[in-house]
Amino acid sequence: MIRLAGIVKSFGELPVLKGVDIAVAEGSVTALIGPSGSGKSTLLRCVNLLEVPEAGELVIGAETVRFTGRPLDREAVRRVRRQTGMVFQNFQLFPHRTALGNVMESLLVVLKWPEAKARARALELLDKVGLAHRADAWPAQLSGGQQQRVAIARALASSPRVLLCDEPTSALDPELSLEVVDVLAQLAREGATMLIATHDLRLAARVAQEAVLLDAGEVVESGPAAQLFSRPRQERTARFIATLGHGAVPG
Ligand SMILES: Nc1ncnc2c1ncn2[C@@H]1O[C@H](COP(=O)(O)OP(=O)(O)OP(=O)(O)O)[C@@H](O)[C@H]1O
Ligand SMILES: [Mg+2]
Repeated sequence: MIRLAGIVKSFGELPVLKGVDIAVAEGSVTALIGPSGSGKSTLLRCVNLLEVPEAGELVIGAETVRFTGRPLDREAVRRVRRQTGMVFQNFQLFPHRTALGNVMESLLVVLKWPEAKARARALELLDKVGLAHRADAWPAQLSGGQQQRVAIARALASSPRVLLCDEPTSALDPELSLEVVDVLAQLAREGATMLIATHDLRLAARVAQEAVLLDAGEVVESGPAAQLFSRPRQERTARFIATLGHGAVPG
């Protein structure tokens, strides 16, 4: 279980998260939707402590971190980070490492695995995202969709408890976006736990069981994704969904 409770985060004078509660059950996928600037990326970054909230609590597996304004215990931060993998909108692959090298990196550097073991694991993950045949390619030689699939393999390398995806398809044209959606849907079927910030209803409807609408740093509505997209309870949710795509909800 990944649980955020009462999360408060400001940047200077700007309140960005105003007491957010959200829970992601083990083996389930939650889509985080909401207008630009509503705090989706900030919330994802609070899960791996790239941002440290001023108040609230994060529970991830056996680890509980309480935010009090005091500096966090470095070991606790390390333990939380090891349980998360992150996928970014713009892939952020290491340009001077091959696809294989990108996926091996954290296994070698963070987990100190021996080369052969890391290579075998990385090849297995590249195979999972359909890119074993491009293991030796450089990021610049790969399409955006391929780069994102390498980034997903990289994020999975250390077997995180939760995969955090920040707009994983929004830099891609529809065709390339589909191959990334397919990979995420496959991971979801295999029981991966994911929290995905996205504007892409096609992605959200296909991959997520649960959805949360964030607006101005507050949860407006949360519930089963299919219901939230097709029969939202809140007027604000309905209005937001109507602004996405053509108002049509696939699935
Ligand atoms: N490092 C930062 N310093 C100052 N303000 C920030 C910082 N990061 C985010 N913000 C502000 O916090 C608010 C929420 O930003 P955030 O990136 O979380 O929104 P978002 O929901 O992910 O938006 P988008 O859909 O455009 O990605 C915005 O007003 C943004 O300008
Ligand atoms: Mg964002």
